[in-house]
Amino acid sequence: MTENSSVFKNPLRHYIRYQPRAFFVGIFLLVITNALDGLYPLLIKIGIDQIETQQPLDDLGRTSLLLIAALTSLGAFRYAWRKNFGRFHTYAMEDMRQRIFKHFTTLGPTFFHKNQVGELMSVITNDVSSFRQAIGPGLLIFLDGLIYLAIILPIMFTINFTWTWQTLIFLPLVPFLINKVMKLIHINYKIAQDRYSELTGLTQETIGGIRVVKSYAQENHRTDLFCQASNKLEVANNKVALIDSLFMPVMEFGVTSGSVILFFIAANDLYSGAVTVGTFVAFHRYIQKMVWPVTALGLGFSYYEKGKASLSRIQAVVDQETDIPNSGTLDLRAFHKLEFKDVSFKFPGMDLYALRDISFQINAGEHVGLMGQVGSGKSTLVSLILRMYPVHEGQILINDIPIENYTLNSLRKMMVLVTQEVFLFSETVTRNIGYGLLQDPELSEVTRMTDIVNIRGEIENLPQKFDSQLGERGVNLSGGQKQRLSIARGLILTSPFLILDDSLSAVDTRTEKIIEEELSQAKKSMQQTRLTVAHRLSSLKNADRIIVLKDGTIEAMGTVSDLIAFSPTFRTIVSVQSSQEVISE
Ligand SMILES: Nc1ncnc2c1ncn2[C@@H]1O[C@H](COP(=O)(O)OP(=O)(O)OP(=O)(O)O)[C@@H](O)[C@H]1O
Ligand SMILES: [Mg+2]
Repeated sequence: MTENSSVFKNPLRHYIRYQPRAFFVGIFLLVITNALDGLYPLLIKIGIDQIETQQPLDDLGRTSLLLIAALTSLGAFRYAWRKNFGRFHTYAMEDMRQRIFKHFTTLGPTFFHKNQVGELMSVITNDVSSFRQAIGPGLLIFLDGLIYLAIILPIMFTINFTWTWQTLIFLPLVPFLINKVMKLIHINYKIAQDRYSELTGLTQETIGGIRVVKSYAQENHRTDLFCQASNKLEVANNKVALIDSLFMPVMEFGVTSGSVILFFIAANDLYSGAVTVGTFVAFHRYIQKMVWPVTALGLGFSYYEKGKASLSRIQAVVDQETDIPNSGTLDLRAFHKLEFKDVSFKFPGMDLYALRDISFQINAGEHVGLMGQVGSGKSTLVSLILRMYPVHEGQILINDIPIENYTLNSLRKMMVLVTQEVFLFSETVTRNIGYGLLQDPELSEVTRMTDIVNIRGEIENLPQKFDSQLGERGVNLSGGQKQRLSIARGLILTSPFLILDDSLSAVDTRTEKIIEEELSQAKKSMQQTRLTVAHRLSSLKNADRIIVLKDGTIEAMGTVSDLIAFSPTFRTIVSVQSSQEVISE
């Protein structure tokens, strides 16, 4: 069992063990607070009785001083237990969040394909918060209620046994009703939250895709959609508010019924002088005080139920193990040879093969091209080299050893992939280029890389040059600029094996040619091995060999002349592209 699974199996026990002081001191202080809170009405009783029997003012003064002392220490103890308990559950929440986030980062693409971003976000935000509410305020409220009852009930029974059971007869209904109301609130709150997510999702999508919205003249349509979502949110919020307003009447119900009953049953005793007014006032005070503990039991229980549901959602995520276990122990230190041996591959959960019977070999220092129609399996093939998915049929070997035997870290340091989908972070240009490095790269190194990918001039024209912020709150780069930056990000790692997946598709042919020359120079000086996925033949001018994929299988492999002889797909590509070149010339 991993450390995480034991933590998430019984998180309350784990966090109590981690911070026993904050937890138990918190509870101890809570008991004292409740004891003081339960006892001070007795002082009021004494005071009133002293006035009624016309005791000396000195006695009344002493009682008043005691009352002030009791109320002041009540405030101090209340503050102290909240502080202790607060530390306990806020720590638990953040620790849990960090564990879940770390777990996310260990999982492979299959997991992220299966689980939507919104759901995962909700687990790490809402569910963790509900868990905190359950082990923090929820548990506290529940304990508070119990302790309070344990202190007040005996006092009430001691004051008057018959009054107690007769006035509190309806009170057990309160926690039950509170729990029901809270359930309704939670259900409707969840609906309101979903509506809210829809609204934010719609806003985000519209703003993100505003150019497309405008080019297709969809402004009014999007506004209509927004208004509909907003109206739905209004209805949902109103419903929550309506149910919320049931809370107070339910809470008051038990007490009011108790007070009314007390008037009737105590009247005779008061008239006959069998009990003092002080006793009556104190008892009435206790009835009022009973509202809180019974409400607390209902509330605490509903927090517990909500937290339990959230915890099971958290457990469902945390229990998902990666399908690419990092169980290899070998360190991949140098690259000599990559070999695919009869590899067939289906994406997890899919019936059709994305790749079938793939066999090829790439030796150190070679430059191999990979071509094929859209969807023929090129990106799938390169993702397997980095072990993004598990391979069950055939074998992928590096230096004659199956890739599963290497540590993932050393494998991914050795084989660097510049992915087809470009993703830059909302950070500076320099930080984006040095993303794979442990430290920020030297400026000279960054400029050298930007020279190779022929983007230095464009970066230097930005207001803050290499310190310009990219992304949402920064500059927006063009598609071709983003591609070139992402090549620089891969190149700066100077890894022995570089894979470029369609990385120059958004760059014009002239720039492509310049970059290709630079990359070849760099490759030679680094003695790098390269696998280049491309659609254009011009990108593969310097390749020693080209592999042509068709519908997930290798159609042919070899030099350009070999391919012209044996690969119909290649012939089609060449004939279409050479006629385009004629047109462009
Ligand atoms: N995560 C995935 N789950 C299921 N099927 C997938 C997944 N990714 C890709 N595919 C499918 O696998 C096939 C090969 O896709 P792949 O991305 O490897 O093609 P490609 O040759 O790189 O295409 P392109 O030239 O457009 O980049 C396609 O049919 C695609 O729909
Ligand atoms: Mg692709």
